[in-house]
Amino acid sequence: MTEKRTLNTIDTPSLILDIRKVNANIKRLKDHLSSFNVSFRPHLKTSKCIEVARMMMTTPSGPATVSTLKEAEQFSAGGVTDILYAVGIAPGKYQRLATLARNGTGITVVLDSVAQARDLAAYCTASDCEFGVLIEIDCDGHRSGVKPHDSATLSAIAGELAGTPAKLKGVMTHAGASYSESTSQALIECAEQERKAVAGAADILNEAGYPCEIVSAGSTPTAHFARDLTGVTEIRAGVFAFFDLVMAGIGVCQPEDVALSVLTTVIGHQKEKNWILVDAGWMAMSRDKGTSKQKVDQGYGVVCDIHGHIYEDLLMVDANQEHGILSLRSSKGTLPDLPVGTRLRILPNHACATAAQHPRYEVTEGENLAVIHQWQRFYGW
Ligand SMILES: Cc1ncc(COP(=O)(O)O)c(C=O)c1O
Repeated sequence: MTEKRTLNTIDTPSLILDIRKVNANIKRLKDHLSSFNVSFRPHLKTSKCIEVARMMMTTPSGPATVSTLKEAEQFSAGGVTDILYAVGIAPGKYQRLATLARNGTGITVVLDSVAQARDLAAYCTASDCEFGVLIEIDCDGHRSGVKPHDSATLSAIAGELAGTPAKLKGVMTHAGASYSESTSQALIECAEQERKAVAGAADILNEAGYPCEIVSAGSTPTAHFARDLTGVTEIRAGVFAFFDLVMAGIGVCQPEDVALSVLTTVIGHQKEKNWILVDAGWMAMSRDKGTSKQKVDQGYGVVCDIHGHIYEDLLMVDANQEHGILSLRSSKGTLPDLPVGTRLRILPNHACATAAQHPRYEVTEGENLAVIHQWQRFYGW
């Protein structure tokens, strides 16, 4: 008989996913969005895992958002047939996407320049391949996109695509500036700015004779803090399913909602320094220190016991490749007694970055230590 796998027996470090929290996090966003007349196109880049994708999507075939061609190929193979590749399109990406489109997966790409539109339209015409196209709108200066009021560029892009198999379906935006906020009021304002920008750009195109069937917006903070979605047809969000300490710092969730953690083992102590050493370093946690610019710096992560209960003020304060250094946030407290061999869990700053360090999820449920599934994740581009 094979021995039951539990958090007491599996190798450390390992990536742990609490399916109860994932379900609760997904339900929370879907419940919020159900009061608006919008569809949901979850971003699948955090999990890179078909089982998690199926929990997030509204149907097994999508719609879905991806950030790499690898995600597009893997999720297409997993039965997703409506995929938005939401990173600016470049010629080197056409062929792999065209293979998916020819095999029956609906592929939509994003672009924000006349040159991109002209090149894509020429490719689609020459190769008789149909893609959907969304024009990316820059709602907050965070990254790429056409300025929302730039009607000349919007119309020129639409004009390049008109009558070609690169079919303009609408507009999309992503309120990345929301990641720098930390109050409800600021997040509500980010969501409204995102809505106004993308709905306004759609109005410009509609009036110019280029109908927008898709008006797509979203990030986890703005999806949760949207109070009005007039003019928006779909919302995208990704990290909401797992959450992480950055999202807790922004105020979208509590650290207790974070579904992802790294299981680690105590391997030593430096008593005079108030250090506990563990076998998870930056290879297991990633180098992401995304909370260092927030009000509360969580170092490399927040320490929990094996069941997932947070130790107050105990952090991974530093990390070598395969060593993590745990210590108290302030020198006043006393370290818990955690002998060599004790198993702990570390909540990550950035779920996408930490998950990317691991080949699979060890899936648990709530405080139970039993591993109920092993779900593979893929990596690369
Ligand atoms: C284009 C786009 N849409 C949606 C998302 C999802 O946002 P979040 O990670 O906040 O859920 C991202 C994240 O980077 C994105 O780049």
